[in-house]
Amino acid sequence: MNATILPEKTKHYPVLLNEIISIITPQYGGTFIDCTFGQGGYSKKILEYANSKVIALDRDNETSKISSNLKKKFEERFFFENKKFSQIDQLKIKNENIKGIIFDLGYSYTQIKDPEKGLSFDNKGELNMRLGLNSFSAHDAIHRLDQRDLEKIFKFFGEEKDYKRIVKKIINIRKKTTINTESLVKIIESSKKKRNFKIHSATKIFQALRIFVNQEISELIYGLINATKILKPGGTIVVVTFHSLEDKIVKFFFKNFSKNKSVSRYLPKNDKNFKLFKLTNKKPIIPSISEIEKNPQSRSAKLRFAIKKKDIQNFEEEIIKKFDYLLKTENISKKL
Ligand SMILES: C[S@@+](CC[C@H](N)C(=O)[O-])C[C@H]1O[C@@H](n2cnc3c(N)ncnc32)[C@H](O)[C@@H]1O
Repeated sequence: MNATILPEKTKHYPVLLNEIISIITPQYGGTFIDCTFGQGGYSKKILEYANSKVIALDRDNETSKISSNLKKKFEERFFFENKKFSQIDQLKIKNENIKGIIFDLGYSYTQIKDPEKGLSFDNKGELNMRLGLNSFSAHDAIHRLDQRDLEKIFKFFGEEKDYKRIVKKIINIRKKTTINTESLVKIIESSKKKRNFKIHSATKIFQALRIFVNQEISELIYGLINATKILKPGGTIVVVTFHSLEDKIVKFFFKNFSKNKSVSRYLPKNDKNFKLFKLTNKKPIIPSISEIEKNPQSRSAKLRFAIKKKDIQNFEEEIIKKFDYLLKTENISKKL
């Protein structure tokens, strides 16, 4: 049997990079916003094309070390801001004709392996999960929220079947002792009715906590809305997602607003029937077998993109309503 030889995994591989380049075509020049700079994989590739310019954002200030090197090399062709992408509309980009806006959601390999961030159930120590520019941690959520709120977070963001049993145990144990990453994993393992041999027992609860701590649902929804607002007609939005909740939001956003339909009662009458986007691919683009062999983390990636057709105000009402139950669950954070 031939074994697949994986390269030593010490760095982050930009996912679906060639596919993204063929969608945004930086070889013809233009300004691009890389909303999730990370290790700079996409930004570096785009900047290889001489007439291109990149404005990059990341909420994790540690990525600014990599961005400083790019700034030295590319000077006026590269800008970086330590900002959340939901605030993309606050960038000073007057007179820039933005050709493409890219979101590569989730976390880089470097962040997952960082024990201080505590994103993974393999880490040891205090519960954290903050990516940067956060107002509370997973420790705060686990120790300060009541039973019903923790249940909602685990149910909606983790789609975890045994959420009630897990929360009951958390509430009992936290009365006696502090819960850290290792003890949370043990609580989850001992609360599960059935063992799943495909994924680690703690996967769904850790996903739920990461989403809640980093307010990933509102980040994505307002990121998409505000990116659409600053993009000129003809520009492209590209999103790479890594779990079904993210993909559900992106799929709805692009599909719903690419239908010819009435959207908002607040719009002027003759603006009510419109298509905000043109969709050329209804199905997501996924990594090739050879990319997955090289970078197994890419296996759950899904890429969707859409081209903006028209400038329309106040289109967002429908997506906010559709995912209201998720936005309300994130709003539990106001109690912390
Ligand atoms: C998967 S990595 C991006 C990797 C990058 N495409 C590359 O090739 O190196 C995701 C990055 O997005 C950042 N991020 C996640 N949510 C964000 C948000 N709401 N606003 C800004 N950056 C965010 C993370 O800190 C992380 O660095």
